Amino acid sequence: MSISIEGLDADGRLRLAPRDEDQRDAARRWRQLIDERLAELIPDGNVDPRPLHESMRYSLLAGGKRIRPVLTIQVATDLGATEEAALDVACAVEMVHTASLILDDLPCMDDASLRRGNPANHLEYGEDTAILAATALLNRAFGVIAECDRLPAQTRLDLTRLLSDSVGSNGIIAGQFCDLQIRHGHGDDIAGLTEMYGQKTGALFVAALEAGARIAGVDDVWVKAVRDYGVNLGLAFQLLDDLLDTFGSREDIGKDTGQDDEKSTLASRLGAHGTQQEVHRYVESAASALEPLGRSGLQLANLARSYTRTTMDRVAV
Ligand code: IPE
Ligand code: IPE
Ligand code: MG
Ligand code: MG
Ligand code: MG
Repeated sequence: MSISIEGLDADGRLRLAPRDEDQRDAARRWRQLIDERLAELIPDGNVDPRPLHESMRYSLLAGGKRIRPVLTIQVATDLGATEEAALDVACAVEMVHTASLILDDLPCMDDASLRRGNPANHLEYGEDTAILAATALLNRAFGVIAECDRLPAQTRLDLTRLLSDSVGSNGIIAGQFCDLQIRHGHGDDIAGLTEMYGQKTGALFVAALEAGARIAGVDDVWVKAVRDYGVNLGLAFQLLDDLLDTFGSREDIGKDTGQDDEKSTLASRLGAHGTQQEVHRYVESAASALEPLGRSGLQLANLARSYTRTTMDRVAV
């Protein structure tokens, strides 16, 4: 039985907010603000060492959906902060994400050739420069947090710890390591794959969301609610990414498809239909987690559902 993503609200869970043009305009505007600010936060391509800075800008400013930084700004503003207070932190999250993509594409990892519609960083600049550019972006992210002088020093410390944990050997790096192990058949059962998705993808979603809540200075019940939302959204997001890998088109998604053909993924374990159902289940769990936020959670619930709907439309399952 297929589950309608808008049909699961009968027992009082959050409804899909009415199509909200203002909200979509806000997200579009935030994406533009993020792009402009990212360009300011790292050195120009004509600053020495030029090829390194060009390589950093090449991947960071190549576009991308900017979903993580938009989530940071969405949460922060929904919970009472200004977008100015959240913008640089959102950009730091995007720097971490872009660094992870450069590394993910390397020949020793996924050996991908296309990213964000362009040749992968290592194909343009060489593996050596790509590794250094990724490391420099990761490093710069923490500098940006330290420089956020709109935020209290304690918040900056909390955000540093949060982002560090999300990248580290219990976060993205753990997930990427397990991803490599799973290719060799270690831990490729559903529980192992789910844990790995939570680390390689979910951890940064959770951090992006918690960062927004920390910027807004809300209490721990709300922080927990947005974290739970992030855990579920991260899993849904990676499952959708699996579907795009198998059923999407390279031109449409701007990156290689068929990358997962030779390895176990949750999508290959669950089958296309089972994966779609799991996505809807995680998205509804994400929405339910926001209940403590009341109306302040509506836009986040809406965002998860509308991203799911547009992505499902792009996969010809
Ligand atoms: C790709 O992330 C890596 C995954 C965790 C699946 P995105 O799909 O957000 O990539 P961009 O930022 O839009 O390029
Ligand atoms: C990577 O997952 C998640 C990261 C931490 C970068 P994938 O390897 O499936 O991401 P894509 O499909 O290359 O974007
Ligand atoms: Mg990968
Ligand atoms: Mg990959
Ligand atoms: Mg993928």
